[in-house]
Amino acid sequence: MSSVNPVQVIAITGGKGGVGKTNVSINLSVSLAEMGRRVALLDADLGLANIDVLLGLRPNKNLEDVLSGECSLMDIMLNGPGGIRIIPASSGTQKMTMLGPMEHAGLIHAFSEISDQIDVLVIDTAAGISDSVVSFVRAAQEVLIVVCDEPSSITDAYALMKLLNKEHRVDRFRIVASMTRSTQEGRNLFNKLSQVSERFLDVTLQYVGNIPFDESVRKAIQRQRPVVQLFPRSKAGVAFRQLAEKVDLWPLPSTPRGHLEFFVERLVQGAVGKQ
Ligand SMILES: Nc1ncnc2c1ncn2[C@@H]1O[C@H](COP(=O)(O)OP(=O)(O)OP(=O)(O)O)[C@@H](O)[C@H]1O
Ligand SMILES: [Mg+2]
Repeated sequence: MSSVNPVQVIAITGGKGGVGKTNVSINLSVSLAEMGRRVALLDADLGLANIDVLLGLRPNKNLEDVLSGECSLMDIMLNGPGGIRIIPASSGTQKMTMLGPMEHAGLIHAFSEISDQIDVLVIDTAAGISDSVVSFVRAAQEVLIVVCDEPSSITDAYALMKLLNKEHRVDRFRIVASMTRSTQEGRNLFNKLSQVSERFLDVTLQYVGNIPFDESVRKAIQRQRPVVQLFPRSKAGVAFRQLAEKVDLWPLPSTPRGHLEFFVERLVQGAVGKQ
């Protein structure tokens, strides 16, 4: 892979299910695209009421077909709203920790083909802390943790950060509070989480902001459209765009290599480490 195009890789995760990860992934991606970024959204949780269902897409091939050499990444990418490209990954990702050398090479080759065509790769992860979630998150350059005001969301987010920190030396997390009833609620959530994790783990947490609870999100889901497009002036729509503006200011790392290359290498290293 010889690309020098700096691709920013952002994993959206959170430990707990149903906290708003997929909605953040889709609306952040579409908002970044509206700002002129070329965005690919990797659906690492295909089929479980996620990106495919939320956007009414019907992928018939996924990353596994790419890994087996049957087709290229270009062949499986779907056109999403606002010009984003969707990479369906489900079954491939379950196997991500058990790849052989041929598949490693296939993965590196597959991503090298698209690295010149995208600026941002957003990864929507599944709930929980399975090997597949961890392998994607630890390989990403930015980790955005989605939390909501439920005790289990805080404890699950903490458990995820602990595992990533102790076993994979990830030490920097960005936090977004989802479905908040007030701006203060988001702040309080962040304070709670950062106090305990900065005390017991070797990590730094940064607060990115909150996405308010908004019925427009549910209405948009029913119509299989991103809320930022369907209701751009809704509270959630405005908040998602503000989130994208902040994300767009995150610094790109100063590695001389293309960052997508770095991501795939780490993904593969993680897989090797498991064998
Ligand atoms: N800002 C919001 N306001 C109101 N409802 C929301 C908001 N964000 C998410 N929801 C609701 O929460 C549900 C779950 O959201 P989403 O699918 O994004 O969560 P998830 O974390 O990806 O879940 P899973 O772990 O199952 O993949 C949505 O179907 C929607 O009804
Ligand atoms: Mg989801």
